[in-house]
Amino acid sequence: MARVGLALGVASALTGYLSHPRFYCNYVECCPRDGQRLNASGTAGAGGGRAAPELGRSLGSAARGVRALKAQLDNRLFGQHLAKDVVLKAVLGFSNNPSPKKPLMLSLHGWAGTGKNFLSQILAEQVHPAGLRSKYVHLFLATLHFPHHDQVKLYKEQLQNWIRGNVSACPSSVFIFDEMDKMHPGVIDAIKPFLDYYEEVDGVSYRKAIFIFLSNAGGDLINKAALDFWISGKRREDIQLKDLEALLSVGVFNNKNSGLWHSSIIDRNLIDYFVPFLPLEQRHVKMCVRAEMTARGYAVDENIVQAVADEMTYFPKEQRIYSDKGCKTVQAKLDIHEDLVMREMKARGVGQLLAAAHTSLKEIDAVSVRKV
Ligand SMILES: Nc1ncnc2c1ncn2[C@@H]1O[C@H](COP(=O)(O)OP(=O)(O)OP(=O)(O)O)[C@@H](O)[C@H]1O
Ligand SMILES: [Mg+2]
Repeated sequence: MARVGLALGVASALTGYLSHPRFYCNYVECCPRDGQRLNASGTAGAGGGRAAPELGRSLGSAARGVRALKAQLDNRLFGQHLAKDVVLKAVLGFSNNPSPKKPLMLSLHGWAGTGKNFLSQILAEQVHPAGLRSKYVHLFLATLHFPHHDQVKLYKEQLQNWIRGNVSACPSSVFIFDEMDKMHPGVIDAIKPFLDYYEEVDGVSYRKAIFIFLSNAGGDLINKAALDFWISGKRREDIQLKDLEALLSVGVFNNKNSGLWHSSIIDRNLIDYFVPFLPLEQRHVKMCVRAEMTARGYAVDENIVQAVADEMTYFPKEQRIYSDKGCKTVQAKLDIHEDLVMREMKARGVGQLLAAAHTSLKEIDAVSVRKV
């Protein structure tokens, strides 16, 4: 009897241990608990960037999380001082607040290849370390998930159900809506009730979720503002959010191809921050090439860095300051160079082998002659 009791005791202790969140969540992805909304270790994703441990100890969890996010952005996102500042400010306010009044809603705008998806990915990794692979991070592409104009009603219904289900499962879910400029007007208004200042909607609280819109809309306005700064001899780093924010919100609201055209989301001021992405200059393209070479495990070769940067096209035509595609084609261009370098190395390797073989043959010949 005593043995059975002991066995039951051990079994229940073991079950308790295995099902304890600390153990269980080491092996299965868990929704972060309250007060744990940002990953404070700074180890998410590729670029490293740990928060200093001595500071980590003296800061609260939210502040540590923001510090780790800052380190990631400082190390990995180039040429986007505004986007960096705005996102850090937004996330600091949001994660410091134990009961936010509404979900965090960011709208990222800018030219192609300037880092909108990249920043969303870094931010998502900071909330859910698996990033885009996390079951709590949801990426919608307008052209893939909402392609047909005549099905807007159905999309709205599906979207609401999807968001309701996922936020019920994990309050700190992250929803990223890409290609907002290709979204049929009206679709996105389906999420308005979730973004508003309601404690709960049908028994679900959305106030800890994060919504991110990505769009090229307004990119031309940002580019023009950046160019005006450049022409008047001012430093890019001196461009401030106030120089662009109003311009963006009005421009996007009045742009029929923004996905937010006359949207009640803007009308009701539910977007917390418009985040501008500046067009990237050649020096930033070079930084992207160096980062990519390092990520691939190569020593940085400045000749290749320059060659890739030279292959990009730049605008405006006369001044050639900003990269047409930002850093977007860097990886593909580097693939070609990598291929060439490998071929050259192989060729050199074969040449060296042949030369070595040639020398050995000569030596053998010499020995044979001597023997004779
Ligand atoms: N500012 C940046 N700093 C560092 N890397 C960048 C930056 N911008 C782009 N990249 C690199 O280029 C790749 C493509 O950028 P990304 O997909 O974020 O562009 P995007 O702004 O979303 O462009 P699009 O509007 O065309 O979708 C990224 O995965 C990243 O490797
Ligand atoms: Mg993108």
